[in-house]
Amino acid sequence: MLNNKLSMKIVDKKIIGQFKDARIVQLKIEALDIAQKAKPGQFVVLMVNDRGERFPLTIVDKNKGTIDLIVQEIGLTTKLLGKLKAGDSLYALAGPLGQATEIKNYGKVILVGGGVGIAEIFPIAKALKKAGNYLLVIIGARTKGLLILEKELKEVSDELYISTDDGSYGKKSLTTEILDEVLAKQTYDFVYSVGPLAMMRKVAEKTKKEGINTKVSLNALMVDGTGMCGSCRVSLAGKTKFTCIDGPEFNAHEIDWPELEARNKMYVISEKHICKLKGYE
Ligand code: FES
Repeated sequence: MLNNKLSMKIVDKKIIGQFKDARIVQLKIEALDIAQKAKPGQFVVLMVNDRGERFPLTIVDKNKGTIDLIVQEIGLTTKLLGKLKAGDSLYALAGPLGQATEIKNYGKVILVGGGVGIAEIFPIAKALKKAGNYLLVIIGARTKGLLILEKELKEVSDELYISTDDGSYGKKSLTTEILDEVLAKQTYDFVYSVGPLAMMRKVAEKTKKEGINTKVSLNALMVDGTGMCGSCRVSLAGKTKFTCIDGPEFNAHEIDWPELEARNKMYVISEKHICKLKGYE
């Protein structure tokens, strides 16, 4: 599962989103073993340097021997990753990890992606389209500069709706407000969502009322990525699950959202502190 050191080279890097000093970076990485085995919905865990934290990133795309990862520079490690250039190598890379998305013909499907979660929507959208589904895709970002993969998603969706919080592009609204509008017009068979926790929680609340099968992909804190450390645990219908081995996708209607939101805030203060210490404010 651990990718060998010879094949962790960044072969391409581009900035695909930017607003002020917030950047979203796409990296193409040589990883033959992972590229051969990866399925939509799976992720890798990587380390930028020998003392850095391990963190998960969805495999957004794969090609002959390479995988594409998309990262928003929001903490120390993601900022260090964003500083690497084409030709540099990662320190460690393990994958593919997690359960692959169940791809089948559900019928009429809605995908809701917010922020950098749009990157995770893309491989799922491609696979669901190939399986014959009708795809209505809703994507949203804080502002136009941070909206990613619009062109790519347009190519695979039957309908694409765009929102920004500040109204700089698409509709000035939340993705969940667009979801309300489309659900009021028609019934759908399956909803899949990735993005900020608050957004996914709202999606879950709305689709639960409508009785629509809904999955979300969680971006949990991870250390080992193998179900040993417990850092990625989540409660589902009263049972403990691990995002790294049981997920990252779960039934949105069974998740204990208040507990998950509290766990996700655990490291916010220490992350800000370490960024300040290292001069990455
Ligand atoms: Fe350690 Fe999932 S990352 S149990």
